[in-house]
Amino acid sequence: MIRTVATTPFDGQKPGTSGLRKKVPVFQQPHYVENFVQSVFDSLENYEGETLVIGGDGRYFNREAIQTVIKMAAAAGFGRVLVGKGGILSTPAASCVIRKHEAFGGIVLSASHNPGGPHGDFGIKYNIGNGGPAPERITDAIFERSKTIAAYKISDADDIDLDVQGLARVEDMVVDVIDPVEDYAELMAQLFDFGAIRDLFAGGFSMRFDAMSAVTGPYAKAILEGELGAPEGTVVHGEPLPDFGGHHPDPNLVHAKDLYDLLMSDRAPDLGAASDGDGDRNLIIGRGQFVTPSDSLAMIAANAHLAPGYKAGIAGIARSMPTSGAADRVAEKLGITCYETPTGWKFFGNLLDAGLATVCGEESAGTGSSHVREKDGLWAVLMWLNILAARKQSVVEIVREHWATYGRNYYTRHDYEEVDSAAADGLMADLRGRLDGLAGQALGGLTVEKADDFAYHDPVDGSVTTKQGVRVFFTDGSRIVYRLSGTGTAGATLRVYIERFEPDAGKHELETQAALADLIAISRSLPDIEGRTGRSAPDVVT
Ligand code: G6P
Ligand code: ZN
Repeated sequence: MIRTVATTPFDGQKPGTSGLRKKVPVFQQPHYVENFVQSVFDSLENYEGETLVIGGDGRYFNREAIQTVIKMAAAAGFGRVLVGKGGILSTPAASCVIRKHEAFGGIVLSASHNPGGPHGDFGIKYNIGNGGPAPERITDAIFERSKTIAAYKISDADDIDLDVQGLARVEDMVVDVIDPVEDYAELMAQLFDFGAIRDLFAGGFSMRFDAMSAVTGPYAKAILEGELGAPEGTVVHGEPLPDFGGHHPDPNLVHAKDLYDLLMSDRAPDLGAASDGDGDRNLIIGRGQFVTPSDSLAMIAANAHLAPGYKAGIAGIARSMPTSGAADRVAEKLGITCYETPTGWKFFGNLLDAGLATVCGEESAGTGSSHVREKDGLWAVLMWLNILAARKQSVVEIVREHWATYGRNYYTRHDYEEVDSAAADGLMADLRGRLDGLAGQALGGLTVEKADDFAYHDPVDGSVTTKQGVRVFFTDGSRIVYRLSGTGTAGATLRVYIERFEPDAGKHELETQAALADLIAISRSLPDIEGRTGRSAPDVVT
């Protein structure tokens, strides 16, 4: 039976960069999930009888939320839901399943790389029929609806057994519990030369993939150890745990330090890789050689033609503005455009749908392509494996050759976390107010060429997105970018992105922070970070 339940609005159900993200106890309040899900459905049209994809990263509260979404989808009139067995679907796999089954959309339960558990984070995100995150037009409508919602509809049917694959029924709606890996693995096999990668592993190539006790475990085990013949044990932390084993499932040099240390040791395998809570981020480390996400994008773009799915070449590259300019140099050589977008994967959707870009990436460890509409951690790892197999070289050889050919973009990001919001806003406002006077000024031995506040003109739909970060360019080609994070949960996070291009191959072996020391000093003094925030040094350096 379908019940209509009276409710009152909750404050703050505003989807952020990647959906609604709050602490678990917030989601556990009676009606909280229901209000938001009903607000999503109320913001959509013509979905009666259509298919909805549901799955999440396995974190605490995933199963409870999925049961609620299933019963509400039935009440709303969806014809069918496809739900990953055990409630599991990585974010890129959800995107893949939506596209392959021509679903109306999908609901992804995840808080990405944020910690999980009873006191950790949870999240709900709506993806549209192209497999990508809902555009702002829809997320704004969801938020507006959440402010006035007075009732929601839900079936009072029993819970679905999420651990048994196959068909069930809730009211008139079919529930299909699917293998969460199958469709995704099939797509990967189409894109990459699995035969060559199998030969690579058969020849003794060694790898460690750290799934960080998050969603990519089953995917990595099935594909790397199953289909590609990597030895058992290649995938570590391969069981998705509700609290990610108490760790922060973010594949960076801070939270994947064990992996980094292993790759820098004399016991290092040929390749180390990791992915985040929901499987969309990636970390790539060769033996003795970390590959920055910005460099990885450039190197993938330069070598993508070696993978069968990209053998005709790539149509274009897209990178977020703060991502380094390394990819631009590859685009120039290939005679294609490198699009520069604001931070946030959703800005790539139009470029991918229109066929203007094939490969995309962000400095925040996101890389992907037109195969889905989310960034894709395992895809990046398989792309690197394909490149290594085809070129028969090591990661370090490929990186050095790339720099020798294109030059090296020394790059670092300095994060000042949990800064007082008013101080952070004041710092940005002050910088914005000084933009016009900066050109021509000498700062710490360098001269400012120009300064601006990045605005994006979407070439597909003509929309304009302003105030996306202050950029200071120097006459030697260096750049400092300032912006406030859009994903933080406490106070403000000031991100400072620092970059210098070095064409001379004789100077490609410097330590990054040393190579950027003069710019780092300018980055602190120009907006008087210490005076305004009380911080003399960043909390996190990547
Ligand atoms: C999420 C988004 C990315 C974005 C990243 C950092 O992972 O999916 O597209 O680059 O957050 O965003 P932030 O605003 O915190 O720098
Ligand atoms: Zn993620």
